[in-house]
Amino acid sequence: MRRPIVAGNWKMHGSRADNARLVEELIAGHPDRAAAEFLVLPPFVYLQEVGRLIRDTPIQMGAQNVCAEAQGAFTGEVSAAMLKDVGCGYVLVGHSERRWIYHEDDQLVARKFAAAQSKALVPILCVGEHLWDRENGRTEEVVARQLDVVLELCGVEALNSGIIAYEPIWAIGTGRTATPEQAQAVHAFIRERIAGRDAKIAAATRVLYGGSVKASNAAELFAQPDVDGGLIGGASLNAEEFLAILAACGSR
Ligand code: PGA
Repeated sequence: MRRPIVAGNWKMHGSRADNARLVEELIAGHPDRAAAEFLVLPPFVYLQEVGRLIRDTPIQMGAQNVCAEAQGAFTGEVSAAMLKDVGCGYVLVGHSERRWIYHEDDQLVARKFAAAQSKALVPILCVGEHLWDRENGRTEEVVARQLDVVLELCGVEALNSGIIAYEPIWAIGTGRTATPEQAQAVHAFIRERIAGRDAKIAAATRVLYGGSVKASNAAELFAQPDVDGGLIGGASLNAEEFLAILAACGSR
């Protein structure tokens, strides 16, 4: 049984005041027994404070990025140990905005995945294709490559404590969601690809969908057999909307 996850990627949004308001509303509206794990991913500078606000609540926290190196002269970077130190349990690696705007390649993403695990953070590996890849029938090729590099470096066992998020780039922040069938097809492909190395690990690995998930489309996405929750951007900044997505995950 895979426990679903609903994760809110705040990206570069928020302020101390906005965060306090949002977290207060999330705590007030969080059901006593949610079927899904519920986590927020604030910008680095707010992690410690958000961590304090969610202490002793069911809400968990992660970061949006991590340095592949353990420590040293890497100006502007934040290590896995530091994230752990301020209360993170999770971290995104290879979000498409990191890959495409900041030119992070598959090898670097795989090293970040390993760095996170070395400090007992759960990495959420983001994979996904551009519109031109999809239109040229290359979705599976792109997703397989992004996944394989991590499996080669870290071994399939790394997925025992890792999560995958399929985020088609053409659906992120565009209001254009993958159809439930499109999402399911790629999620099933990811699971099969992992099963090629280890069927048991494949069956247990959680694969989240991300890309314009909203309260209005979450239930049909989460109803797909291989969709184990969502990575939510814009809609996670609105407590009512984000909690409705959590509720949709619970009723799958
Ligand atoms: P979105 O972002 O929900 O705003 O499309 C998802 C993400 O980038 O994680």
